Amino acid sequence: MRETGSGFAFLPPEWAEEASSTNDALKARLASASPPPSGTVFAARRQTKGKGRLGNAWLSAPAGDLTFSFLWRGRASLDEAGCLSLACGLAVRDFLAELGIEAGCKWPNDVFVGDAKICGILIEGGLAGGGGPGGELALVVGIGVNLRGQAERDAALGRKTASVEQCLGAAAAPEALLPPLLRRLALRIASWRDGGFAALRADMEEALWGRGRPARARTPQGVVEGVVAGVGEQGELLLETGDKETIPVRSLSALDGVYAGNHTGNAL
Ligand code: BTN
Repeated sequence: MRETGSGFAFLPPEWAEEASSTNDALKARLASASPPPSGTVFAARRQTKGKGRLGNAWLSAPAGDLTFSFLWRGRASLDEAGCLSLACGLAVRDFLAELGIEAGCKWPNDVFVGDAKICGILIEGGLAGGGGPGGELALVVGIGVNLRGQAERDAALGRKTASVEQCLGAAAAPEALLPPLLRRLALRIASWRDGGFAALRADMEEALWGRGRPARARTPQGVVEGVVAGVGEQGELLLETGDKETIPVRSLSALDGVYAGNHTGNAL
């Protein structure tokens, strides 16, 4: 996104027939002698090595699902940057609502329809230009939205995923659906830049998937069991324990149990 006043703009998306991973392609370009500007969007009709979080592979229907990455460059603390994934999850939910699909945001960066994942988000990158306090961040945001029917994918994965086609009976082509999704992303990212997570919190609370579900978190004080209770001021997940204490969780890797573990969507 190029900052334009308080808004953001994406560059026109570049489409490739095939890429190993759109995230890897953008990261390679970031490391090149002429790194692309903020707001660059790279989409592929087919990924041969799509990646999910935690080193998982990401399966998508060849030439049928929406798989793309964009570059965000700007100044933000690492805590602020952590909320970019929440902003993107909300944007995907907005986009699905526009299509007529009701979805929820599973903290920090999955989108679910009922108990099945329809979208995963993978953010990679870090400090650009040598870093240092107040340095510029260069983040590659990869988004995979399931558009096509999921019988084969579910068979390969051994679990249930969701797709636009399954929800609506049909899905438009990825090329047609990327522009409206980018519009939703630009709006949510502008809110995040202008107002921080405070500008997103009420919507995130409303969108939060899995409220009341059990979760376990590893904390410096040991393992804590609780239920998902909400999202805090800095975008952290709040767990409520049996004795009504609220525990903030800031990292997905600190979570396990039903909330974190059993819903990895297309990740193989
Ligand atoms: C996850 O849920 O584990 C994250 C999945 C992210 C998948 C997208 S598809 C486009 C981009 N390119 C990749 O290789 N991964 C992301």
